[in-house]
Amino acid sequence: MKIKRNQLCGNLNKSHVGNVVKLNGWINTRRDLGGITFVDLRDRYGIIQVRFDSDLPEKILKIVKQLNMEDVIAVEGEVHKRPEGSVNKNMPTGEIEVIVKDFEMLNKSKPTPFEIKKRETGSENLRLKYRYLDLRTKELQKNILIRHNALQSTREFLSGEKFMEIETPFFIKSTPEGARDFVVPSRVNLGKFYALPQSPQTFKQLLMISGFDKYFQIVKCFRDEDLRADRQPEFTQIDMEMSFIDESDIQNISEKMLAHIFKNTIGKEISIPFPKITYHKAMEKYGNDSPDTRFEMMIENVEDFAKQTNFKIFHSAMENNSVVRALKVKNGSEFSRKDIDELIELAKRYGTKGLAYVKYNNNEFQSGISKFIDEKSGKILVDKLNLTDNDLILFMADKWKVSLTVLGSIRKYLGKKMDLINNEEISALWVTDFPLFEYNEEENRYQSMHHPFTSPNEEGWKYLESDPAKVKSRAYDVVINGQEIGGGSIRIHSREKQERIFSALNISDEEANRKFGFLLNAFEYGAPPHGGIAFGFDRLVAILAGEETIREVIAFPKTTTAQSLMIGSPDIIDEKQLKELGLKIETEK
Ligand code: AMO
Ligand code: AMP
Repeated sequence: MKIKRNQLCGNLNKSHVGNVVKLNGWINTRRDLGGITFVDLRDRYGIIQVRFDSDLPEKILKIVKQLNMEDVIAVEGEVHKRPEGSVNKNMPTGEIEVIVKDFEMLNKSKPTPFEIKKRETGSENLRLKYRYLDLRTKELQKNILIRHNALQSTREFLSGEKFMEIETPFFIKSTPEGARDFVVPSRVNLGKFYALPQSPQTFKQLLMISGFDKYFQIVKCFRDEDLRADRQPEFTQIDMEMSFIDESDIQNISEKMLAHIFKNTIGKEISIPFPKITYHKAMEKYGNDSPDTRFEMMIENVEDFAKQTNFKIFHSAMENNSVVRALKVKNGSEFSRKDIDELIELAKRYGTKGLAYVKYNNNEFQSGISKFIDEKSGKILVDKLNLTDNDLILFMADKWKVSLTVLGSIRKYLGKKMDLINNEEISALWVTDFPLFEYNEEENRYQSMHHPFTSPNEEGWKYLESDPAKVKSRAYDVVINGQEIGGGSIRIHSREKQERIFSALNISDEEANRKFGFLLNAFEYGAPPHGGIAFGFDRLVAILAGEETIREVIAFPKTTTAQSLMIGSPDIIDEKQLKELGLKIETEK
């Protein structure tokens, strides 16, 4: 390499006029105007226009004629002010250009499968296959920089607060967080498997027992679960744990950390402390345990109204341990039959039989279930929901969780569809007072709402065996803009209490000892009271970058079928390797 850069494309400005500079970079665009060739040269720092005049040596001109997009070149030349009229106000370096004196071809590029300066020319799958090219685009360059800044400011903040960053192993035993484990077979321990951590939960608790009273780690976690826009099989957490603290300590430090990250990455002030809402209220009002509070449209209990109607579905619901809830949609009475059918389809995805609706216009109820509403019941509904002209009311009559979840997802859907969300706003809040357990209908048993190391609240211990559904936990989630971005809890720190939880979860002593004996034993050697939290770092960065999916903020993400289209993983392995591991693949089930 003859011409090694001494300046960066994006850093040049008017003050460099008259300087002779050397630049290296990629060809973003190329235009031929008569004898002159203009090239927009790009590096990580930006784009600068370089000009090849016709008085350059023939040898150089010949190569310049054949330059392609994304070729890598080196130029040496003088920085000039652009002539009047050719200033480009949309470009930070738009007032200047570099007039080339010497040139070197560093490497050619084949035509790229999509245009680097126009990502949309490639489908997402094509771009995932050529991720290293997608990462050249300004969109991903920006996101990866935000991610870098978020990583650095997290470390800076936590280290400043005396948290120690301690790495924990990836080859471990199952740490349950509600997903399936990814497992790794052991060649030297034939027939045995490591599990990759779903989180470093048990290790960070052990570190508290070791006396490191403030721990953090920015760490990969692995979960085999159904993927979506906000879930990847491997993702990153900011994992934290503290000793001798209660909920408020974790919440305070988390708020400060998030404020620090927002300020230092995107210059945004977020207001702390965050408001708190209980799980029950979040479900009742927003139909969701990660409520988006950036827009109104609340769910209401309309059972007083339902009792007065003669709509059978309402009555039979209330007689059968179910509930009736309503969502008022302002200006929704303009919805067409097709719009409403869409909402009904959405409801049915949750296994309900339907969604009832009625419109309110000119002080009267129209269409939908209006024929079941008389004057008396109508008045109750008008008062309860403060109905005014053009309202649409949607009703769900089903089990508590189903009714609320359906109305909650319709609420989220309509918030987007009706453009009710101010995307500039950041709404952060804590969800508290979660149930300790939730009932798994399919498996007919209770399971932890968070994980089995979460402590119940003081009162909860009383009902642990007699009425597990009633027990509340000392867990808390952080929600930003309707997305769960973090969750944690105060933990159990005694063997006896931890064993009571395992037994409430129907985990036998034998199984508990085999899986978590190390932790139970450790609790017997002076385990301090402790608690912590973990943030979904990818989700946090997606919010910072204003992206809808975490794939946009991960350098090398996987598809929703957990594949890397670039390297082609997962892949088969050699027969020899299988044999060494004592494995046999059953091709057909
Ligand atoms: P939890 O399971 O809630 O808690 O995980 C913490 C946060 O991690 C993010 N997250 C994910 N992000 C991307 N892809 C995934 N598949 C994925 N799964 C979870 C979420 C979530 O809030 N050990 C506990 C924390 C603790 O109790 O301290 C834990 O892992 O944003
Ligand atoms: P059907 O009696 O099934 O014709 O339903 C009458 C109306 O009630 C239709 O608009 C259904 O969509 C609606 N509906 C059915 N089941 C429910 C339910 N669980 N909650 C609210 N509305 C329902």
